[in-house]
Amino acid sequence: MSELLNKLEWRYACKKMDPTKVVPQEKVDRIVEAARLAPTSSGLQPFEVFVVTNPAVREQIKPKAWGQGQVTDGSHLLVFAAWDNYTADRINMMFDLTNAQRGGTNEGWENYRQMLLNNYPARDEQVNFEHAARQAYIGLGASLIAAAFEEVDATPMEGFDPKAVDEILGLRARGLRSVVIVPLGYRASEGDWLANLKKVRRPRETFVTEVK
Ligand SMILES: Cc1cc2nc3c(=O)[nH]c(=O)nc-3n(C[C@H](O)[C@H](O)[C@H](O)COP(=O)(O)O)c2cc1C
Repeated sequence: MSELLNKLEWRYACKKMDPTKVVPQEKVDRIVEAARLAPTSSGLQPFEVFVVTNPAVREQIKPKAWGQGQVTDGSHLLVFAAWDNYTADRINMMFDLTNAQRGGTNEGWENYRQMLLNNYPARDEQVNFEHAARQAYIGLGASLIAAAFEEVDATPMEGFDPKAVDEILGLRARGLRSVVIVPLGYRASEGDWLANLKKVRRPRETFVTEVK
């Protein structure tokens, strides 16, 4: 465990990536797999991950992301995109998939499906999107930890215009909305103001309350 914590100390929100370095595909695959394996509320997995390598597409996204250079200097750009709403079709898709993979169902499980069908689709679309977006952030966290484990630099970014990114990637037509983006790459040897600054976190005493 301390090995993982050492790597979490090592990771930082890299500001300048070396454009000549490419993250090996197997590492990218494991970083994305960590998001796919992340837990989600009711197991609905209401988000998808886009892995953007196309240089022209990343050039288009960069100005919509405050001109942040990592978008094009990294070798891969992950886009976490959440479901725009919970629909009966989407809920049924996940329950049917579960039944197919587990080879059967049971009454409790089907009652749970019905409870979600009775509640989620009737809720406000924005409430549902925000719930889905929270699940995407769990995937984000898993991928950030996996990237650190792989010693790949990853910069989580909310600093972008989601509507513009949705447009560039055609997300709305697929019932998705971008939530957070993550360039993957390797830190540049110079030119990053953050690289040599101490990692700052609140001390444990003000962060953890033990209720014994
Ligand atoms: C959801 C989220 C959004 C963020 N958006 C940006 C961003 O747009 N640009 C950026 O340079 N850093 C961004 N950050 C990085 C944070 O500023 C950084 O993680 C935080 O200051 C802690 O520093 P560290 O990650 O270097 O340890 C974001 C982090 C998270 C988790």
